[in-house]
This record gives sequence, C-alpha cells and structure tokens, in this order.
Amino acid sequence: MQRIFGRNVSFCVMLCCLFISFICVDHFYPTLRISKNIQKIIYDSVTEKAVEKYFTVSTNSKNTLVRLNEPNSHNTVKNISILSQKAVARLTKQELQQIKGYGTSSPIVVKKYKLVFFWNQKAGCTYWKRLLQFIQGVKNKELHVPGRNGLTHLTQFKDSEITEMMFDNSWTKAVFVREPRERVLSAFLEKGLNPARMRDMCRRPAVKSLLEFITLIKTCKDVHWSSQVKLPRHLYKYTWIGKMPDINSYTEKLLTKIGAWNDTVNNYLHSKEQFEKTRPHATSANEKLLQYYNDTKSQDIIFKMYAADYDVFKFDKKYFN
Ligand SMILES: *[C@@H]1O[C@H](CO)[C@@H](O)[C@H](O)[C@H]1NC(C)=O
Ligand SMILES: *[C@@H]1O[C@H](CO)[C@@H](O)[C@H](O)[C@H]1NC(C)=O
Ligand SMILES: *[C@@H]1O[C@H](CO)[C@@H](O)[C@H](O)[C@H]1NC(C)=O
Repeated sequence: MQRIFGRNVSFCVMLCCLFISFICVDHFYPTLRISKNIQKIIYDSVTEKAVEKYFTVSTNSKNTLVRLNEPNSHNTVKNISILSQKAVARLTKQELQQIKGYGTSSPIVVKKYKLVFFWNQKAGCTYWKRLLQFIQGVKNKELHVPGRNGLTHLTQFKDSEITEMMFDNSWTKAVFVREPRERVLSAFLEKGLNPARMRDMCRRPAVKSLLEFITLIKTCKDVHWSSQVKLPRHLYKYTWIGKMPDINSYTEKLLTKIGAWNDTVNNYLHSKEQFEKTRPHATSANEKLLQYYNDTKSQDIIFKMYAADYDVFKFDKKYFN
C-alpha cells in the first residue's frame, strides 16, 4: 500500500516538473526560436507586411514570427516585430553574387527612378540599354562596356544597398526575357554561323546546323545562351517580368510605374532611329522559327536544357509547327 502510494507521489512530482518545465520553455520558446535564425533582434512595431518586407530567411520562420506577434500569441516581449535590418541575415553571399552578376552582365540600376533592370543577352538588350540611357539623358555611344556606357551597374553597390533594393518595394525590379528556342536560334544565326565568333567563344570552326549548335552549347558556355534565370528563385515574386512579344506594352507599363513615361519617351521609341537600331535584334530570329525548328528533336533538347527558364518565366512549351 505504502509503496503504491510512494510511486503515485513520485509520479505526480514527475508530472508537475514536466508541467513546470513546459511552462518555462513555452515562456522562453519564442525568443529561443527567433534567435535561432537571427542572432540579435531589435523589435519595433509589428505588421505582417513589415515582416514580409524584411524577412527572407525562410517562409517558415517568417510565419513563426508573424504568429508570435499575433495578439493572443505566447510572445513575452510585447509588440515585437519588425526585425531590425541589421540583425537579419537576408541574402547569402552566394545569392548576392548571383544577383550582382559578373562584369559586363551586371544588371543596370537607374537611381533616379529606383529601378533595377535584369536584362539578358539576346533578349532586346540593345533596345533596353539605349532606352535606359535615354531616360537618364545619357548620350554615350558605347552601350555594353560598364564604365563607358554612362550606365550604373549593380556591381557598383554595397551588399547592404543591394539587399535594400531587392526587398524595399519602392524599388522596382524588372526582368526581361526571351523564349529560349527563339533566343538560341538568334544566337545560332549571329554567333554559331560566324567563324570568327565561334573561334573566340568556343575555339572551333562555325557550326553547320542548328542541331549541331544546340549540341555544342551544352559544353561551350557563354552568356549569350546561358539561362536567363539569374536570381535566386524566391526573389522573382518581387520582380516585373517582361517578355519579347510584349516589349512595347511592357515598356510603357514599366516606365509608367517608375515615373519615366512621357510623350518625349514615347516619341523616341517610335522614332526611326530607335526602330532601326533595335528591330533586327527583336524580330529576325522570330520569323525564322518555323523554318529552323521543323522537327521536335531540337525543341525537346531545348525544353530540357532550359527547363528552369520555362518554369520560372512560364513559357509555353508548344512545338513550333
Ligand atoms: C505596437 O506598436 C504600434 C506602433 O509602433 C503601436 O501603435 C501599438 O499601440 C503598439 N501595441 C502595443 C500592444 O504596445
Ligand atoms: C520626359 O522624360 C524624359 C526622360 O526621362 C526627360 O528627359 C524629359 O525632360 C521629359 N519630358 C517632359 C516633357 O516631361
Ligand atoms: C528542316 O530545316 C533544315 C534547316 O533549315 C533543313 O536542312 C531540313 O531539310 C528541314 N527538314 C525538313 C524535314 O523540312
């Protein structure tokens, strides 16, 4: 009898201890959980939007924070929330490097209109660079060489500034892309068939067919045919994505959004000078699509090689025929 009683008591004590420790842990748990992801937090005011704006570690952690700041949450530090900018590990070194790009490929920044433009080779890049010069009154003839084209590139900014640009929605992030089959064909016609270009880029003679070119670019890497997915995927939700067929309406929408659209710009875009400079790049490959993609084999290879592009930019995988 006594032994059973004793056992019951110790069982109760155990339960009590468990309960007390549970309360303690629950009391501190929010802080613990938060500090696991972010070393030190200076709390301020709380809105989901604010958390959304600055939080990038993971969706899970963001949801945890938002939940912890709900009125009925277990949060012991009242009214905590927005993570101080300094305290948050927002983009990794690797992500920042990926965003900045390398050398001549770096995105263009137009500070005046708070625009970061992620352009791509063989996707209207001449058109965009000329336009971004124009809206800033830059008269430089040089287009492609940073430092000589009068344009500002993302590589010129500090990591903290780039992070701010990426997450502050007063900055517009624009991405312009082209359908991969169209872009590869354009590269084939302009580079693949050109002996001098092939010698420079791939150390070999010109190719003879599109299929040969497609096979070659699996091993000969170059920015003119590399993937147009140049941002960590989770950042695309903050970007305005434009595609070649919509170049005109997209231009107007984008420039209107940043406050750079007016009659002068509109007239410039429709001027003969601008038209002739950019038209060949924009359309010559398009007209030849049907002629060159006359079987499914090469298209299947491209679908596979550029799977990320098709996925992120939602290009239609319908065969040309
Ligand atoms: C939390 O902060 C906001 C803005 O700083 C303030 O309006 C609100 O009253 C605060 N809430 C509490 C519970 O202190
Ligand atoms: C239109 O925009 C351009 C480029 O941003 C600017 O140079 C020009 O002064 C503007 N014109 C008018 C009439 O506002
Ligand atoms: C497909 O196009 C290539 C290149 O234009 C051409 O050489 C080939 O004969 C065409 N094949 C068919 C089946 O039309």
